[in-house]
Amino acid sequence: MAIQIVGVIGCGLMGSGIAQVCAQAGFPTVVREVSAELVEKGLKGIEKNLARLVEKGALTDAARNEVRGRLKGTTLLDDLKDCDLIVEAIIEQLPAKRELFGALDKLCPPQTIFASNTSSLPIIEIAASTGRPQRFVGLHFFNPVPVMKLVEVVKTIATDSAVYEEMVAFGAKLGKTPVRANDGGGFIVNRLLVPYLLDAVRALEEGVGSVEDIDNSMKLGCGYPMGPFTLLDFVGLDTTYYISQIMFDEFKEKRFAAPPLLKRMVLAGWNGKKSGRGFYDYADPANPKPMQL
Ligand code: 3HC
Repeated sequence: MAIQIVGVIGCGLMGSGIAQVCAQAGFPTVVREVSAELVEKGLKGIEKNLARLVEKGALTDAARNEVRGRLKGTTLLDDLKDCDLIVEAIIEQLPAKRELFGALDKLCPPQTIFASNTSSLPIIEIAASTGRPQRFVGLHFFNPVPVMKLVEVVKTIATDSAVYEEMVAFGAKLGKTPVRANDGGGFIVNRLLVPYLLDAVRALEEGVGSVEDIDNSMKLGCGYPMGPFTLLDFVGLDTTYYISQIMFDEFKEKRFAAPPLLKRMVLAGWNGKKSGRGFYDYADPANPKPMQL
């Protein structure tokens, strides 16, 4: 079955990026948020990204209009009933995802494929809320979605092989490099990335170096585009803390345990760039000030 119409649930940072790349790849895309304000906010973000591409000459004005024409924002789940594939990118809470997919399962015909963009919840536990776990995969994108070239295509113990191959091909049609990952905690990227980020916090706690020096070390010594603290602030400290808890629960290994400093920063509401403060203070966004311990 060829995918023709894509549905995206959630038009936040990840959902809007996913909707954008689907529409840019030529798929009519319906993106749903819970309120008209959030639909508008998400679509505005996409509009800004497209404008940047036109300015740079990476997209013609006519192509931008075609992308716009393929995108439809809605607050109604019903508007997704004709989609061939639905990608979920809502809040990282298992009960919310299970409830959503339970409703979609009743709404959509049996052939519709379901995918979750969760970064760390077991896909099978979400899939089990539907009567079609064989047509359920993980499609894990990376922030910023329009820029990052990877998509992890996650297969559970129940995913049908033909559906899985179709999703791998779909990832490639989006212009991403699809990698095949099993439904183990954190898949591939977070399995490696999360212990690295947590180790950076442990190094800071132990006085190995300052925020700025540790960031510069990994940027300039290893060629990473962002140092670990800049990346933590970018991903969100709350998000990283949440993922680490799920992974610790899965593996019971110390390397996945959140360091006390990370936990305390999250408790203080210092969630990174989005909250104005994390390992850097963004009071002057053009000149973030590193935290001094
Ligand atoms: N949306 C769309 N495009 C964006 C963007 C955004 N939010 N942010 C940057 N860009 C584009 C810019 O327009 C620019 O395009 P151009 O090269 O065609 O002109 C390009 O990206 C580079 O941007 P900048 O020059 O402004 O800045 P940088 O060179 O510093 O790149 C970055 C920004 C791409 C974010 C780079 O710093 C980077 O790759 N950082 C690491 C990001 C990363 O590791 N992401 C994964 C996080 S983990 C995750 O998402 C998984 C989850 O489960 C935790």
